Amino acid sequence: MFIFYHEKSRTFHLQNNQISYIMCVLPGGEAAQLYFGKRIHDREDFSYLLEGAVRSHMAYPQESGSGLSLEHIKLEYPSFGTGDFRRGAVEILQKNGSRESSFRFKDYRIMPGKPALTGLPSVYTEEADEAQTLVMTMEDPVSSVLMELYYTIFADEGIIAKSAKIISDSDEEIYLTRAMSLCQDLPDSNYEWMQFSGSWGRERFPVVRPLAVGTTEIESLRGHSSHQENPFVILKRPHTTEASGEAIGFSLIYSGNFSISAQVDPYRVTRILAGINPEWFSWKLDKGESFQTPEAVMVYTEHGLNDLSRIYHNLFRSRLVRGYWRDKERPILINNWEATYFDFNEEKLLKIASRAKECGVELFVLDDGWFGARRSDNAGLGDWVAAKELLPDGIEGLSSKIEALGMKFGLWIEPEMVNPDSDLYRAHPDWALCVPGRTPALGRNQLVLDFSRPEVVDHIHHMIAAILKNSRISYIKWDMNRSITDCLSAALPPERQGEVYHRYILGVYNLYERLIREFPHVLFESCAGGGGRFDPGMLYYAPQTWTSDNTDAAERVKIQYGTSYCYPVVSMGSHVSAVPNHQVGRITPLKTRAETAFFGTFGYELDLNRLSAEEQNEIKEYTSFMKKYRRLIQFGTFYRLQSPFEHNESAWMVVSDDRKQALVGFYRTLGCANVHFSRIVLQGLEPDFCYSVIAGEAVYREKTVKKIESFYGDELMNLGLIVSDGTSGKTGEGIMPPSDFFSSLFLLNACAECPELEN
Ligand code: DGJ
Repeated sequence: MFIFYHEKSRTFHLQNNQISYIMCVLPGGEAAQLYFGKRIHDREDFSYLLEGAVRSHMAYPQESGSGLSLEHIKLEYPSFGTGDFRRGAVEILQKNGSRESSFRFKDYRIMPGKPALTGLPSVYTEEADEAQTLVMTMEDPVSSVLMELYYTIFADEGIIAKSAKIISDSDEEIYLTRAMSLCQDLPDSNYEWMQFSGSWGRERFPVVRPLAVGTTEIESLRGHSSHQENPFVILKRPHTTEASGEAIGFSLIYSGNFSISAQVDPYRVTRILAGINPEWFSWKLDKGESFQTPEAVMVYTEHGLNDLSRIYHNLFRSRLVRGYWRDKERPILINNWEATYFDFNEEKLLKIASRAKECGVELFVLDDGWFGARRSDNAGLGDWVAAKELLPDGIEGLSSKIEALGMKFGLWIEPEMVNPDSDLYRAHPDWALCVPGRTPALGRNQLVLDFSRPEVVDHIHHMIAAILKNSRISYIKWDMNRSITDCLSAALPPERQGEVYHRYILGVYNLYERLIREFPHVLFESCAGGGGRFDPGMLYYAPQTWTSDNTDAAERVKIQYGTSYCYPVVSMGSHVSAVPNHQVGRITPLKTRAETAFFGTFGYELDLNRLSAEEQNEIKEYTSFMKKYRRLIQFGTFYRLQSPFEHNESAWMVVSDDRKQALVGFYRTLGCANVHFSRIVLQGLEPDFCYSVIAGEAVYREKTVKKIESFYGDELMNLGLIVSDGTSGKTGEGIMPPSDFFSSLFLLNACAECPELEN
């Protein structure tokens, strides 16, 4: 039992071994938030936590008396207008022009497990005892609107999932103009706000600032979660580090326009709101209709940021990602995009694939340019039929030829878009989002299809499903290369235009759901011009995401480091590409490129035929190394050790569940002369285990290493691993050269002869 209800004090306590989440019903029926944090004892009544005081200028509900102002109470899912002067979680425009509502407790139910959200992605349970869900029903009698607030607590970790459903029982139409997924009031503001911001080619760089009185916010109004901001925020205590201290994460399982804000009031109470961005949002509800918000997942830990990430990684990897690929090691792929761009034919593709096959690659992915008149990004998007002049036997023929080589075949699509120069657009110009009388903005020469219209989604489904049915396709890369503008649907009446952004993303989810159900063995990788839609909503459908178009190793260390705060290694698409790098022009060693890409799904994005014989041999080593260690890397526990945003030398590691094996990745940006000695303090090992350490190039030739040194886990986690010569002190072979863009791996194995291991 995780959820207690104390009838007398009308108090709910959601509790597991890690956390407590406590709220109560006020005398007037409003729901108040009392505590969220480390587990505490249960008691009948926590109302001593309600902080009431008579203050100048406050407003108070008449039935509660002058001491209790909603402004000074921490609330569950509040609305603006009745005395709480902070931002509200819900706003309803009614026929008489009022936007005021006041929801009062009606009843509640507690259920085992966790219900799914219709049409929306969400975390789930497999067994009923993994979680318990409280559904609190609230009612605003004046507007005749009901609200169901969902709270799920998971059994073993500090996780609370929240969402809300708003149901109209009003005879008059109402408009939801704000319907957040989560409102979380916290009793103080002594936090640092950590967001993950960027732009194309430099996604999810951590940005940290202290909370202060006023509002701090991140948002997207681009129609996708965006390169610029990610729907994820951490509040951490100022002293919190990767290894210790309190932190709370807020992750929104949504891929469209969003907002996450922290409003600190003059009494230092912090209100977090997360959900669909209220800008440009409204949703009409007629009697009997309901609106389900996306889900937000809060994680609490007192053990530092790595622990927060561990909890998100495990949850998302095992209870958000679904289906055949969820627990499977990911195939090592080669993608032809940077090898050929639009300049290819079947012969060229088969040459790239054959060489890759020789190097041990398992999956060949054909990227953009294979269909319609798509010889550049000017034309053809929307015409999902293979171009016979490039592929004489179509995708069917090419996929069979690739399979005959002994590889799997994958294909790129961008189903949400259309070039004006395409048969699809000529046939259905009204299927693109645009405002009559205005010229819509182009992005990469393309318009956005109106995925809020079921017939548009049906048509695209028909085209894509036909290709999947008729060919031998094991993988789909689903791209999305521009943000939404001119957001008006020709199919909706004026009063429903505020629904288009959300209906669009529901259309995307719908197409994904249909395709993954029909083709359950196909591995989907989502992409939006690199990492422009790297969010948990996408992970519900596509188990992996192309992390960034920037494949430069030095930049990728940063991008993957930043992404790892919320998202698991196994979700990060990561490729070795050619030098000079196509995005930044940098030349980095092949080894560094591989040792960066290992910490993801791993693949190649270059023509291996253009490498020397020596380099091709290296590629073979990297491929077989990844095959050997991908279970450890993709399903072990990941720890950030030293940040590339703060140091010239950075590091991360993964540790197996039984802690008997670990792999450390160490990266140096710029070389310097007469360098200092450095050590990296490791995490997650068993203090009493003794680990052999193989360092540097020797990890690729383990069997030939003659002398291997070993260290206790407590040494490595306190004194640290000596990395100053790249070979763990005197261990292994070779000296770490003082070069730029250097990397080294350290492979740790608990030694079999260690007496500690026998217990
Ligand atoms: C953007 C993607 O991020 C790239 O990997 C590639 O697929 C191109 N689109 C193709 O147009």
